[in-house]
Amino acid sequence: MEKFPIRILIADDEKNIRELLRDELAAFVISVAAVESGPLALAELDRTEYDVFLLDLTMPEMDGITVLKKLKALEISAEVIILTANATVHTAVEAMKIGAYDYLMKPFKIAELMPIIEKAYEKKKLRAENLLLKTQVKKQAEIPRLIAESRAMRDVLERSKKIAQSDFPVLITGESGTGKELIARVIHNASPRADRPYVVINCGALPENMIESELFGYEKGAFTGAQARKPGLLEIAHQGTLFLDEIGDMALPLQVKLLRVIETGTFYRLGGTREQQISVRVISATNKQLKAEIAGGSFREDLYYRISALTVHLPPLRDRRDDIALITEHFRCSIPAFKQKRFSSEALKLLTEYSWPGNVRELQSVVHHVLLLSRNDLIAPADLPYELGERPASTGSRLEDREREHILRVLSQTGNDRNKAADILGVHPRTLMRKLAGYGMGK
Ligand SMILES: Nc1ncnc2c1ncn2[C@@H]1O[C@H](COP(=O)(O)OP(=O)(O)OP(=O)(O)O)[C@@H](O)[C@H]1O
Ligand SMILES: [Mg+2]
Repeated sequence: MEKFPIRILIADDEKNIRELLRDELAAFVISVAAVESGPLALAELDRTEYDVFLLDLTMPEMDGITVLKKLKALEISAEVIILTANATVHTAVEAMKIGAYDYLMKPFKIAELMPIIEKAYEKKKLRAENLLLKTQVKKQAEIPRLIAESRAMRDVLERSKKIAQSDFPVLITGESGTGKELIARVIHNASPRADRPYVVINCGALPENMIESELFGYEKGAFTGAQARKPGLLEIAHQGTLFLDEIGDMALPLQVKLLRVIETGTFYRLGGTREQQISVRVISATNKQLKAEIAGGSFREDLYYRISALTVHLPPLRDRRDDIALITEHFRCSIPAFKQKRFSSEALKLLTEYSWPGNVRELQSVVHHVLLLSRNDLIAPADLPYELGERPASTGSRLEDREREHILRVLSQTGNDRNKAADILGVHPRTLMRKLAGYGMGK
């Protein structure tokens, strides 16, 4: 049976009840913990995130109402269900006023308790979602658009959307700059977890021990500098998606730890003794050939099989040239200052023919540079970086092409006045006429 992704904490001073309840609930939900007093419960709730808190009203050290008040003061988000043996309507009502979700009188059956727990959990989820939604709305606007018109990219997009519906780990491969991060985001957005956190960790960017503390979080005093408890990104990603970028760069010891998290859905904070339970969907990306890394001993084979249940491969830009002009337009329009500029069809042709070793990222940088530096509104081949002119055997030499571009540009600037154009070009009008005739533009 699929367990509810609910994390429950029980506080009851009676050992029998506490343990019986814990063992029975364990069959239904992913995590249950039990403590014997109010202060212990508060410490626990402050340390770990719980969804539902089952609180006994009458406990010797600190009564339930006091616990409840402190809990609200600490802004702990777990929903509270009061358990009481001798509940007068009075105390139960008081508890509800302070903010308990519901109450239940002992003795009760698990069959009575579970529906209340589920409803309390739904309420907590809704509350968290509303909070998240406020921040997400802003974030949604920042998600860049993905251009995918070529056959190859339409296939990628279609596959990604299908994959989004399942919960299996996904590995995204492709050369640098092909759009792996963008596709990871597309998968999350199209998935049932779309409204939940999307947490990105770049495994290549940070030193190993920092990635570890970022991922797993730590308890106060776990190492020098750990002055306060910090939840890990794994916890923050609970119920959402964890995107492990550049996973091929992850150090081997960390690979072992990550494998354990993916296999069990549990981990410990650094310096922590409490097992944390999470449900995350893992998406990884790499521009490395992981099979070769495995052969070379720098990537674990078992981890590879775990993270690559599903795969998406992004083709290099040179294998989907149909997209180049559209992506160029997309990058041009993304900056208001460039709205009135245009790429000439000759320039677009060169962009389309170039090999783009740096893929879409390189295209983006070239487009922005060219638009920024060109003084004319019409971008000609001469405005493009040198490498782009070096295309494979084409009509005429590059020099001739550039000369042609230059002449035509001057001509258009003079409003087709050939004498004026020849003057600017420093040639005799007859020379200009000859050149134009050579371009098939003679009178
Ligand atoms: N199909 C696309 N349409 C529009 N923009 C794109 C497309 N693909 C990539 N981009 C843009 O190109 C840039 C590079 O993409 P991204 O960062 O996703 O590449 P990557 O594959 O993760 O590269 P790396 O392996 O170097 O990390 C980003 O600014 C991204 O928004
Ligand atoms: Mg990337």
